[in-house]
Amino acid sequence: MNFSKNLINWYSVNKRSLPWRETSDPYFIWLSEIILQQTQVKQGWPYYKAFITKFPTVFDLAAAKEDAVLNLWQGLGYYSRARNLHFSAKYIVEELHGVFPSTYNDIKKLKGVGDYTASAIASICYNEKTAVVDGNVYRVLARVFGIDTPINSTNGIKAFKLLAQELLDKKQPATFNQAIMDYGSQVCKPKQPLCTNCIFNKTCSAFNTNKVGDLPVKLKKTKITTKYFNFLVIINDDNIALEKRIGKGIWQNLYQFPLYDSLAEVDVLEVSSYLKNELKLEDFELSLYNNLPIVHKLSHQHLQTKFWIVNTTNKIENSIKIHELNNFPVPVLIENFIKAFNF
Ligand code: ADE
Repeated sequence: MNFSKNLINWYSVNKRSLPWRETSDPYFIWLSEIILQQTQVKQGWPYYKAFITKFPTVFDLAAAKEDAVLNLWQGLGYYSRARNLHFSAKYIVEELHGVFPSTYNDIKKLKGVGDYTASAIASICYNEKTAVVDGNVYRVLARVFGIDTPINSTNGIKAFKLLAQELLDKKQPATFNQAIMDYGSQVCKPKQPLCTNCIFNKTCSAFNTNKVGDLPVKLKKTKITTKYFNFLVIINDDNIALEKRIGKGIWQNLYQFPLYDSLAEVDVLEVSSYLKNELKLEDFELSLYNNLPIVHKLSHQHLQTKFWIVNTTNKIENSIKIHELNNFPVPVLIENFIKAFNF
């Protein structure tokens, strides 16, 4: 079987037409690849359009305020990706005179760029012979070649990269890389793959040994913890408390209502004493907005979230005008509350 030839033949007929496929400008490819690590093509498409419209060049992105970048990223999650994008844009402008690096090694030096993204940009923009290995590639290779080494183990990462690199069509690395990713997302899908139409089904190891559902293998690593998030929506007339999240951890540099978090559910008395003792509010009315917690699932944590409405006559620290709320990048959880509450 000539894996690469068959794959590229399939791609020449079935290639998806995507906005970032109409360019080989590394700035656009970089944006698209970072966005696509975070979401599917369909969901990523409007984000890509918004980014290239608002920041048509790396100079525009570098000159932007971080809040503006986070605002456009809002809803994609993993906000560190957006901060890294911004950081790297400034680095390219300030240190590289706006010229995007052009080799795998130099591209990989950019903050937020790992093996996958560097290979994607280097191959798509500069035809460098470096194979991409993303979730699609792991799936296609694990199934076709019957590899059960866990894809998130050190050995697995090495072995799959090596195999992808061997299979890579050295004359057309850009086409091969995009073809294998498209194949993984269109045919060799995670669920209900189209095995009967698959061009590899005669030789596919997983298909012929009935193991399609078992491959690829992934080690379960992290234990998921539950946390209880209580957002305090503190209002005085047309002022509302809003603070910036600082430090490491989720939602870094996004804005939120003051947060009281705990490892167990809290009741109205506990919230009330927190408002008095920690936030030094003296005169307030407290009510719970949602009796049932909203569950927000992150990779390592499940957040059980409640919003508490606090009307006060006391002066609020860190307040903004309610009508300014939309100017601040906030986690989707809070964005949904703002929409539903209809201030
Ligand atoms: N997923 C992420 N990047 C991709 C690309 N360049 N082609 C196909 N699928 C992708």
